[in-house]
Amino acid sequence: MAQTTRIVLASRPHGEPTQEDFRTETVNLPDPGPGEALLDTLYLSLDPYMRGRMSDAPSYAAPVPIGGTVVGATVSRVVHSADDSLAAGDLVLGYGGWQTRSVERVRYLRRLDPKGSIPVSTALGVLGMPGFTAYAGLLTIGQPKPDETVVVAAATGPVGSAVGQIARIKGARAVGIAGGPQKVAYLQELGFDAALDHRAPDFVEQLAAATPDGIDVYFENVGGAVWDAVLPRLNTYARVPLCGLVAGYNATSLPEGPDRSGALMGTILRKSLTVRGFIQTEFAPTQTDAFVRDMSAWVASGEVTYREDIVDGLDHAVEAFRGMLRGDNFGKVVIRVSD
Ligand SMILES: NC(=O)c1ccc[n+]([C@@H]2O[C@H](COP(=O)([O-])OP(=O)(O)OC[C@H]3O[C@@H](n4cnc5c(N)ncnc54)[C@H](OP(=O)(O)O)[C@@H]3O)[C@@H](O)[C@H]2O)c1
Repeated sequence: MAQTTRIVLASRPHGEPTQEDFRTETVNLPDPGPGEALLDTLYLSLDPYMRGRMSDAPSYAAPVPIGGTVVGATVSRVVHSADDSLAAGDLVLGYGGWQTRSVERVRYLRRLDPKGSIPVSTALGVLGMPGFTAYAGLLTIGQPKPDETVVVAAATGPVGSAVGQIARIKGARAVGIAGGPQKVAYLQELGFDAALDHRAPDFVEQLAAATPDGIDVYFENVGGAVWDAVLPRLNTYARVPLCGLVAGYNATSLPEGPDRSGALMGTILRKSLTVRGFIQTEFAPTQTDAFVRDMSAWVASGEVTYREDIVDGLDHAVEAFRGMLRGDNFGKVVIRVSD
């Protein structure tokens, strides 16, 4: 009988998650039944949405139960399959969660066919859910046009870096926002037309200088102070794909100060803004094929490049997750669980 070592949720975090909110345990796995396979986890994706799953506040998805394995997308190798469509040794994209082995239903797995020098872990990043989020959110809601100005924060992460690079492919000006000089230098390397540090004391002035014609598309990944700086610079008819608000994921209450929702509504009205929230799954049925075609070609040609932040060992997952929410990561966070 196979065993798995897994990280389970021991308690619901209040604010920033702590090590005590998690517990590591080793348990027996059931043998795979018909239509199932036993998998060895090679790579585990860490994503900001997991913070939401650790909470039982109302959401679009069910929370991880206390005592349950923390969820997450995985690239795994098939150990044994009870379904003819997969064989031992096949590599698959699945949803095995924070554990070393899993038994999953084969029909929910996607066989991976790694090509050339592109690592299989990109199925969790630029060629996977985060890349798709950027593609579908920017092109469907943002609809950037040549010479328009597109602004994105968390711009060195897997979503933001793809947003900026796709915007440039579509002929728009891309302005990237990130935390710290190293990340800003990387954005310049990627070809962003301007790169700004949101921690700089003169960030608001820098944003004004980098967007002389205003902002036509703001791809919202973070919220908080960046949003406050962006809002006054949005042009009439600007589009705001509202993808994530990571600056507030550990917040335990609304920000201090007067209620500004009336002023926000007034700006949306006067500037005829389109502010549209989305969860990427809504676009999956209609846009996955186009994404796979376009993004695979852009990555192969080098028009889109990517950066991974690979962390060795499942035992470092909690610290890496905490770090990602405060910006310690530099690129797509992937835990290398085994070779
Ligand atoms: N709607 C959907 O379907 C969907 C799907 C996937 C992802 N998302 C969202 O997309 C966003 C980006 O995800 P990702 O996977 O690409 O994450 P990521 O960029 O790898 O990691 C999060 C980044 O957020 C930035 N950040 C944290 N606090 C901030 C603050 N107060 N102000 C400005 N930036 C801050 C940090 O970068 P810096 O060091 O540069 O500040 C950090 O590295 C998240 O909000 C996520 O929830 C949404």
